[in-house]
Amino acid sequence: MKSIILTIAGAGISLMVAAQQKQPVYLDVNKPIEERVESALSIMTTEEKVSLCYAQSKFSSKGVPRLGIPEVWTDDGPHGIREEVLWDEWGGANWTNDSCTAFPALTCLSATFNPELSLLYGKSIGEEARYRNKTVLLGPGINIYRTPLNGRNFEYMGEDPYLSSRMVVPYIQGVQSIGVAACVKHFALNNQEEWRGHINVDLSDRALYEIYLPAFKAAVQEGKAWSIMGAYNQFRKEHCCHNGLLLNEILKKDWGFDGVVVSDWGGVHNTDQAAKNGLDLEMGTYTNGLTTKGNFPYAEYYLANPFLKGIKEGKYDIALLNDKARRILRLIFRTTMSANRPFGRFVSPEHSEAARKIAQEGIVLLKNEQRFFPVLPGKFKKIAVIGENASRSLVIGGGSSSLKVAYESSPLDGLIAKYGKDHIVYSLGYASGPSVYGREEPSRLNADSLIAAAVKAARHAEVVFFVGGLNKNHFQDCEGGDRRSMSLPFGQDQLIDALLKVNKNIAVVLLSGNAVSMPWINKVPAIVQGWYLGSEAGNALADVISGEVNPSGKLPFSFPKKLEDNAAHAYGKISYPGDSVNQYYKEDILVGYRWFDTKKITPQYAFGYGLSYTSFDLGTLSADKSIYSKDEVIKVRFSVKNTGSQDGAEVTQLYVNDPVCTVSRPVKELKAFKKVFLEAGETKSVEMEIKVADLAFYDEGKKDWNIEAGDFVLQLGNSSANISQKLKITVKE
Ligand code: GLC
Repeated sequence: MKSIILTIAGAGISLMVAAQQKQPVYLDVNKPIEERVESALSIMTTEEKVSLCYAQSKFSSKGVPRLGIPEVWTDDGPHGIREEVLWDEWGGANWTNDSCTAFPALTCLSATFNPELSLLYGKSIGEEARYRNKTVLLGPGINIYRTPLNGRNFEYMGEDPYLSSRMVVPYIQGVQSIGVAACVKHFALNNQEEWRGHINVDLSDRALYEIYLPAFKAAVQEGKAWSIMGAYNQFRKEHCCHNGLLLNEILKKDWGFDGVVVSDWGGVHNTDQAAKNGLDLEMGTYTNGLTTKGNFPYAEYYLANPFLKGIKEGKYDIALLNDKARRILRLIFRTTMSANRPFGRFVSPEHSEAARKIAQEGIVLLKNEQRFFPVLPGKFKKIAVIGENASRSLVIGGGSSSLKVAYESSPLDGLIAKYGKDHIVYSLGYASGPSVYGREEPSRLNADSLIAAAVKAARHAEVVFFVGGLNKNHFQDCEGGDRRSMSLPFGQDQLIDALLKVNKNIAVVLLSGNAVSMPWINKVPAIVQGWYLGSEAGNALADVISGEVNPSGKLPFSFPKKLEDNAAHAYGKISYPGDSVNQYYKEDILVGYRWFDTKKITPQYAFGYGLSYTSFDLGTLSADKSIYSKDEVIKVRFSVKNTGSQDGAEVTQLYVNDPVCTVSRPVKELKAFKKVFLEAGETKSVEMEIKVADLAFYDEGKKDWNIEAGDFVLQLGNSSANISQKLKITVKE
């Protein structure tokens, strides 16, 4: 009997061992990812490896069905999870389970100057992508705000490389903590929509390394992004989706990027460069990334049969293919095949809370004379709300970031909820027409009658909230085209003037992702920059307007007084928008406040500026030493006091100037910031650290970063235009 039991047990064990031996390493979730990659690669055919490198549908690419390796499903966008589309269509598939939470646009997130909210944002949107079974979220976008005309500035994080770096890292960490890959875009120099598909951008190496690359470098080296999206434009005559310098040299070799380079949709133009210059996954070829369809089967993509043919003929080294396949397998093992991939959530109360909090903290109070704001509920019996942006959806349109949402609280909804419908009178005031990709379709409503009705509402109201700005229509804040001027569109300036004739008590609330000119600025007592605030827009706006939340947002980009004051528009067409073939960023490193400071041009509102309902006092700035060696860290300390009667938050900003240097440097550059929350009357001590190495400039002669010994001036303030203290320190050889 005993021997029978032993025999059966032995057989059982050997079967179990055999079963374990049959389990290939790539399927063993407890094995290190790199072992799993090599294990899968070693049993894949060349055809299977090539099939990983190009799309199988509008937003997905193949896995390896034979081996049980899942497909890669990507989805837009940076502000929420795009609705499902049909297999090879841009339009929605009319699913009934894909209406998402719209989070505020990334300009709003950036305006919070609060990296903790970036982490919250990333985790929340990551959970929505995870719930919708997406492998890759096609965001965040971090292209630098160079011109107020760029149609996609609303999707990005502003004009300063340091602010964008600090805000993008936690967003990526948040998304990827949920087992979804972030896809940081658009790498690189996609700073306008005009001629985006081909314009050949060039600029100095200093501008490239000091302004346009830092946020991407932080995304890769600190954020550990699992994928990067190549940009549509060319850089030094090579398309960014297969640009040897950007992808092979800088991204993969210098920065050590081990993830996947995904093309923008339609950004790939030839097999040779796609094979050799660092592209890993080709998407959307033969389309314009928004509306057009390709006439070619996916098998005709540049990295499909043409690449396979080249491999088989020995034209392309198999090592090129193996590197692409390894990176895509690594992405899959980090996401869909990872051992402890978290679960997602979709349109949860927590996501609404997150959206509302980010919106509240991003809203920027630009002007507030006679303490116009806050308007406490009950203060007025009759409030006129005027403007299309109070009631129009601002999550639909804008291009690939357009969303089908579960709900959208409009400014009008929020104001009615806050003040009571009996105290609110609404008038459209102006109409912009429907949001149609690629062209403007004017409204059929009669502008004069809209104005007349608005003036009548304003005349009989105690106070007017004008809610205008831009919207997601073509030539506004929208992908695929740039704005044609900095002015408010749809006759808003004239409307504001007409309203002012009957009521001086007007606050202007701008919902936009870009700076606008303000001819009425001296005639209105209050101005709010409200961003695209997503599903919780109305609630967040009403929270701030009513004083329930004290505004603490700061501008992530400068508002010039007029377009010509902006750096990109100071050097003629070749600088913006280019001559339709080539473009040169002639302002070099002087982007945004760097330009205004150096050229002594006063902006309408400065980078880093934003008011509060309370006031703050920054105490004496001190540093732990006065002389530093180049490998040390500067530790500064100062106090902040809330000298007002309302709790609030101040964004303390530390800029640095290098007054004596063999190259010209900006008057100041942001090198640290900290948002400090203080109760009324409270004082807190704040500490900041700056690596001396981070004060370096990019030395074109050495082709490396360089810092010259000498004095540096630390400048503390609450805006780039409001420095309250300076402190000199010295860097020694
Ligand atoms: C678009 C955009 C990109 C987007 C992609 C997929 O053209 O440039 O940001 O993620 O194509 O929609």
